[in-house]
Amino acid sequence: MPAKAPKTPLALGSNRMITFVKKFPLTHKISIFASGSGSNADVLIHHFEKHPSILVHAIFTNKENAGVVEIAKKHGVRCYYFSNESFASGHEILKTLQNIETNYIVLAGFLRKIPMNIIQAYSHKIINIHPSLLPKHGGKDMYGKRVHEAVLSQGDSESGITVHLVNEEYDKGEILAQFSCAVDSSMLIDDLAKKIQDLEHTYYKSTIEKFILHV
Ligand code: GAR
Repeated sequence: MPAKAPKTPLALGSNRMITFVKKFPLTHKISIFASGSGSNADVLIHHFEKHPSILVHAIFTNKENAGVVEIAKKHGVRCYYFSNESFASGHEILKTLQNIETNYIVLAGFLRKIPMNIIQAYSHKIINIHPSLLPKHGGKDMYGKRVHEAVLSQGDSESGITVHLVNEEYDKGEILAQFSCAVDSSMLIDDLAKKIQDLEHTYYKSTIEKFILHV
């Protein structure tokens, strides 16, 4: 049984012993990078908890008080905190990812550009979800409700989600899958946000699974 997760995230480079790692005969280990409420992380951790060959084994966050920290605790998944300065160089994070033998990085509400050394080390192994049908409404500073606001203000008749690989440019990596929903002019931002969140919670896990297992 996993031991209790610590109350606060582990600082990168911390010497504290991680005692609550789940032991599985795994072939594919995922680290999630997130800085928001963590609803997608919650769904993904839960989904892969009993999977025979895929597991979310760590969360990385740049926000010590983010909701995702609580989500990690709830599931007994180790959670690393890093400062934005440490992220910019990427060295310590890459070292940690390699030490814990992460195979894939999944972004779930993580808005910073991934440093080049991590992109190179995890080429074609970093997956992101974006709350629009890319290439529409993507790019730097396009996230969360800003995206829905743009969709509604431009009178789009549909929106959706894009799951894509991450490269050195914001929201420009190879698209793995897109799922759409209808939009109408009577919709409020929160209505659209809910529809998009439902799509994310339904399809992110299966798209990741298909990509990793090549099915
Ligand atoms: C999700 O809607 C995700 O698509 C978005 O952040 C939200 C995180 O929600 N990501 C982006 O906008 C990336 N550009 P969560 O914290 O509840 O999982």
